[in-house]
Amino acid sequence: MADPSTLPQHIAIVMDGNGRWAMQRGKPRSYGHQAGSDALKRTIEAAMRRHIPILTVFAFSCENWRRPRNEVRKLLDLFLKALNKEVRELDEHGVRINFIGDRSMFNQTLREGMAQAEQRTCNNTALQLNVAVNYSGRTDIVAAARRIAAAAATGNLAADDLTEERLNEELTLAHLPPPDLFIRTGGEKRLSNFLLWQIAYTELHFSDVLWPDFGADALAAALADFAGRERRFGGLSQVRSA
Ligand code: FPP
Repeated sequence: MADPSTLPQHIAIVMDGNGRWAMQRGKPRSYGHQAGSDALKRTIEAAMRRHIPILTVFAFSCENWRRPRNEVRKLLDLFLKALNKEVRELDEHGVRINFIGDRSMFNQTLREGMAQAEQRTCNNTALQLNVAVNYSGRTDIVAAARRIAAAAATGNLAADDLTEERLNEELTLAHLPPPDLFIRTGGEKRLSNFLLWQIAYTELHFSDVLWPDFGADALAAALADFAGRERRFGGLSQVRSA
């Protein structure tokens, strides 16, 4: 059994490569997103077996609206299908589901499905799954700054009282520890506007595996990479400070 002190408590994942995976098979991109949904399920199961308590996955960014209308529609249909099909099983396995991002752009059926999934699973404790939809890190920070500005404008916050902790309180996922490990599949080495504030000291793992091929083995490789990192949080290593 792995040493729990070298296991990340919170993993953030950019699930990239669905389109390329589908194209390699001569299939439409939506086929890759469907396979990506299966990979997410496998990854949740693998994370639970490893006793990882928190997963935050990027399912739809604010920038994804720029994709062809047909791909966006199929992706949103897939989310709805996954909500109808998978939530009961996730609930039975003790997964707590939470959506982050601006849902106001989604239709009522999808919004209700998300709210029901959250409601149904809200007392579960085996794994917390945060699904980012219509999310961007910068938007998150701007929304937080706006609330802070409003508090200042009404005299409820003095400039000197604005600390990192106070700003953090206004951000998405404020109630959770920040990610220890960030995984991006699909070979690109970018953050793509995901959890910008929250990953200040997160270890980054970039994998060439296309997301639909991700599963227990690729997760194990990411965890082994993480276990070998020395996290200093801006301080000195044990050796250098001796
Ligand atoms: C990026 O691959 C992936 C997405 C934009 C969608 C992520 C969605 C899933 C994994 C589906 C499952 C999610 C849920 C919540 C059911 P890409 O299309 O950019 O791939 P490419 O870089 O190869 O083009």
